[in-house]
Amino acid sequence: MRYFNLQSYSASRIAQGCMRIASLSDKEIDTLIKTDLECGINFFDHADIYGGGECERKFGEFLKNNPALKDQMIIQTKCGITNGYYDFSKEHIIKSVEGSLSRLGVDSVDFLLLHRPDTLMDPCEVAEAFELLSTQGKVKCFGVSNQSPYQMELLQKYLKDIRLCINQLQFSITNTGIVDSGLNVNTEKSEAIDRDGGVLEYCRLKDITIQPWSPLQHGFFGGTFINNPDYEALNKKLNEIGEKYGITATSAAILWILRHSACMQPIIGSVNIQRIKDIAKCADIEMSRAEWYELYKSTGKTLP
Ligand SMILES: NC(=O)c1ccc[n+]([C@@H]2O[C@H](COP(=O)([O-])OP(=O)(O)OC[C@H]3O[C@@H](n4cnc5c(N)ncnc54)[C@H](OP(=O)(O)O)[C@@H]3O)[C@@H](O)[C@H]2O)c1
Repeated sequence: MRYFNLQSYSASRIAQGCMRIASLSDKEIDTLIKTDLECGINFFDHADIYGGGECERKFGEFLKNNPALKDQMIIQTKCGITNGYYDFSKEHIIKSVEGSLSRLGVDSVDFLLLHRPDTLMDPCEVAEAFELLSTQGKVKCFGVSNQSPYQMELLQKYLKDIRLCINQLQFSITNTGIVDSGLNVNTEKSEAIDRDGGVLEYCRLKDITIQPWSPLQHGFFGGTFINNPDYEALNKKLNEIGEKYGITATSAAILWILRHSACMQPIIGSVNIQRIKDIAKCADIEMSRAEWYELYKSTGKTLP
């Protein structure tokens, strides 16, 4: 496993997403988290809403039974989605974090992200909530998810001593919006349309880590593209490249994200032990520039 500096942490290049753990038994969760740690994955992503709170609660149960392992982990959670709408009010943010801390059974989380933009946000209120949580030691570092550069700039303007350091965004080999517009600047192609305000370049300029979510899904939770007959050419290429490096096609799809020079940290959602082991193995490999572009084009995308 490779690691990178994220604020004061040494974080694994691959993170474990915990959105899909609600239905696992305690024994399965024990095996999952211990496998992650054995593979060098030390970063765990949660949200207050995952499994209606059940994901954090089950993770907290694991921590209670394995207190010594807590120090090896970096724990992140998210807030701001509630009852079918978005709520970045001070009251909601604080209440949500307190709920997460209680379910996880911890005094603090390492990272807190705002889950999806709330257009009714008052940035002063968010700043007050963040500053209070930081002063109380309940949250160490802060970031956002699914936000554009101007949304981040707006919030950052009101944060005095806090630097937004993460933006969690959807990015996979079949969801390439954040790279498409940059590759097609100054062309008439529809891919040139910038839907995210240059978020990739903005995050790189500001040293904000991009965490790609759903790295193996197509569409919006459309299922995995691996072995999916709708993505025949992509799977052929993934298998070819996987064979060359001695890794699975699934791992090759993660390797494609890791190869981007923005040092992204993909959040994998698999709870399959063998898949996790296979994926973790690929963090040390680097595919060539030519292979990266071949995979990009294998989904039907063209370069100008
Ligand atoms: N910020 C946001 O708005 C946002 C949104 C969604 C998710 N997230 C975060 O991102 C994390 C990852 O999201 P995700 O779970 O959608 O990511 P993902 O890793 O793209 O998808 C995982 C799912 O795909 C299946 N899968 C993966 N490879 C497979 C293969 N080769 N064959 C068959 N099935 C395969 C997994 O099944 P197995 O378990 O059987 O491997 C699992 O059900 C979440 O846990 C959450 O932490 C954030």
